Amino acid sequence: MCGIVGYIGDKNVYPILIQGLQRLEYRGYDSAGMAIYNSSLKVYKCKGRVADLEKHVAAEDISGHIGIGHTRWATHGEPNDRNAHPHTSMAGHFVLVHNGIIENYAELKSDLLKKGYTFQSDTDTEVLVNLIEYFYENAEGVNAEIAVRLALSKVVGAFGIVVICKDEKNQLIAARKGSPLVIGIGRGEYFVASDATPIISYTDSVIYLNDHDVAIINKDSLTLKTVENNPVAFKITKVDMSIGDLEKGDFEHFMLKEIFEQPKTIEDTFRGRITPDHTDIVLGGLLDIFPKIMNAKRIIFIGCGTSWHAALVGEYLIEEYARIPVEVEYASEFRYRNPVLTSDDVVIAISQSGETADTLAALRMAKEQGATILGICNVVGSSIARETDAGVYTHAGVEIGVASTKAFTAQVTVITLFALKLAKEKGRISPEFYATLISELSEIPEKVKSILVKHPHIKEVAAKYKDAFSALYLGRGFLFPVALEGSLKLKEISYIHAEGFAAGEMKHGAIALVDDNLPVIVVAAKDQYYEKIVSNIQEVKARKGNIIAVVTEGDDGLKNMVNDLLEIPKSHPAVSPLLAVIPLQLFAYYIAVMRGCDVDQPRNLAKSVTVE
Ligand code: G6P
Repeated sequence: MCGIVGYIGDKNVYPILIQGLQRLEYRGYDSAGMAIYNSSLKVYKCKGRVADLEKHVAAEDISGHIGIGHTRWATHGEPNDRNAHPHTSMAGHFVLVHNGIIENYAELKSDLLKKGYTFQSDTDTEVLVNLIEYFYENAEGVNAEIAVRLALSKVVGAFGIVVICKDEKNQLIAARKGSPLVIGIGRGEYFVASDATPIISYTDSVIYLNDHDVAIINKDSLTLKTVENNPVAFKITKVDMSIGDLEKGDFEHFMLKEIFEQPKTIEDTFRGRITPDHTDIVLGGLLDIFPKIMNAKRIIFIGCGTSWHAALVGEYLIEEYARIPVEVEYASEFRYRNPVLTSDDVVIAISQSGETADTLAALRMAKEQGATILGICNVVGSSIARETDAGVYTHAGVEIGVASTKAFTAQVTVITLFALKLAKEKGRISPEFYATLISELSEIPEKVKSILVKHPHIKEVAAKYKDAFSALYLGRGFLFPVALEGSLKLKEISYIHAEGFAAGEMKHGAIALVDDNLPVIVVAAKDQYYEKIVSNIQEVKARKGNIIAVVTEGDDGLKNMVNDLLEIPKSHPAVSPLLAVIPLQLFAYYIAVMRGCDVDQPRNLAKSVTVE
């Protein structure tokens, strides 16, 4: 949610900023801008994508060695040139880029208006940059750094900011609360960014800022302190990411690349966690805390979007096999609804980015109330990963497509490992059944490959339904979350209205929508609910709905009943979500491409939602 990049050093800053913004564009793409310090401070910004910014500056003097850039996901103020970042203070002393929301901006703005400040934009960010300038100009003995800290002490809300003061050249000031910021350490140069992706071309040494940190960055020195001016020690971490992870290669879109990476990412996620003889699972990150998890009275998963769907798979698996009560909560509801929590609860945050504001806040609340908090995150070093008592990383690699695909299957893989390990340690499943399920899981990558090779068929089916106005997705049991995830993929990237339902629930409302125009995608792999879902298919067929069924290979019984079949290999139902979701990802992808949609950067969405 908004991407920030900054640089100070001897290199030309423009290519660093523009490439950095391209890599951060998945965080927001409503507008883009940059400020470059040369002999003067120049600001360029415009509505639209980073590519529009490149055109915008084509004829400008973009030389300089210090600069900041921003790609925006609009919160306050519509996406237009005026509201694009960087924002400049009224007297021009400061420029600032910001990710987050200043919640008390209205109150601060009204104070500044009374003091004679005027505003060019509708943003909360312009209020902050003017507040910094107000302290700079009006308080005794205040330099840029003190002005930034004084202003931040008045701010309620979330921010990741980078500031340049034109009077104190050769310095960037960065600060975070709630919104992530990473500092890259080069030789005689520093980088700042919302995540490490703009930095890794230059250095793998980074510092993840913590909340309330303020960084004063000169070409040759870095100082960290708190907003209250107390010194902060920092830890340098090595980033494990390659440039290839950030490129599309031969694929037309990142989403397609990421769908096709799943055999590898699923394997990367279980490799090293399954013993070679397939008789046990070792989750190193949870070893110390496992006895506590075993004694939990309840497990509560919190997450948003796709991560919430992965959590739902966790509920079905853990209750089925480990017999521990599980709840699955939308983080945005959980954090505000005053839930009953005790020290016997284990709360597990699931998040690809590890930065989702609602998930992070819900986690903090659970921690305050004494629950054990765990994380299942993809981004190493992310806020959720750092704030949890323990956790398990999904090893999906960098996911750039805004619609999550490989992160979902990696999350489900971790959750499956976790559920099976719990079941085994609690003595709820036999060692033989445990070993069978581990073997089933280890066969998933090959089975995913066999689905991916059928992409031409999935594309043909997608072509038939690309003009649909609306679509229903139905599933039962372990495959109900897959129906939800399939429908989310379709609506996210193709803008077709889509709803996922527990198939048995359809008759309580959704069935009223069924007519001969409606595609109904039924996830009907062979499992204990198969007969039930076939009845649901009959109900749709009786009302002339167009049925696309995800079925187990060799299930000829459904052939004459449905319009189209998408086959997946036979597997144990416990691991079937990892297979059934693949054709649905491709189905949504091809429909979106055929409709001319921007698959990797769908309208209004952002990959990492760091505002509530
Ligand atoms: C956004 C993304 C989704 C993602 C959700 C939760 O809405 O577009 O793809 O599932 O955030 O993100 P997280 O990083 O917490 O998994």
